[in-house]
Amino acid sequence: MQIGLASDHGGFDLKEELKAYLKSMGHDPVDLGTFNEDSVDYPDYGALVAERVSKGDLERGVLICGTGIGMSVVANKFRGVRAALVNDLFSARFSREHTDSNILVMGGRIVGRALAREILRVWLETPFAGDRHQRRLEKIKALEKKNFK
Ligand code: RB5
Repeated sequence: MQIGLASDHGGFDLKEELKAYLKSMGHDPVDLGTFNEDSVDYPDYGALVAERVSKGDLERGVLICGTGIGMSVVANKFRGVRAALVNDLFSARFSREHTDSNILVMGGRIVGRALAREILRVWLETPFAGDRHQRRLEKIKALEKKNFK
């Protein structure tokens, strides 16, 4: 699976941790930055991943900032992106089963490394449940069509 990763300075450490974890699981993550702890603006990095997921160049994305809030706001500006801010295992599971989330967002200053790894594993392994949830996603698509240029 092609997974893109990006963070700002507040998520840099956790991004590095999750990149190594993805590699240990046999994935080949695409790291789009940031590449050190210097202060940067999260919209620049969130957009790099969200745009590629929106275009279908990447299947999934993982975005980390300090709280996860800024990155999730940015990512959900892109058509077809369903970015889920997840800092617990219950949300990790249901963001996939019910919402078919294609970008996982976490707060690097909120979740510990071990929990973040487990959230990522559950998020990657949980399939979308379809059925009534598909109908709801169709409604989201209709809203995008109506409201986005
Ligand atoms: C950067 O200090 C911080 O604002 C950012 O990482 C994030 O938490 C924004 O939502």
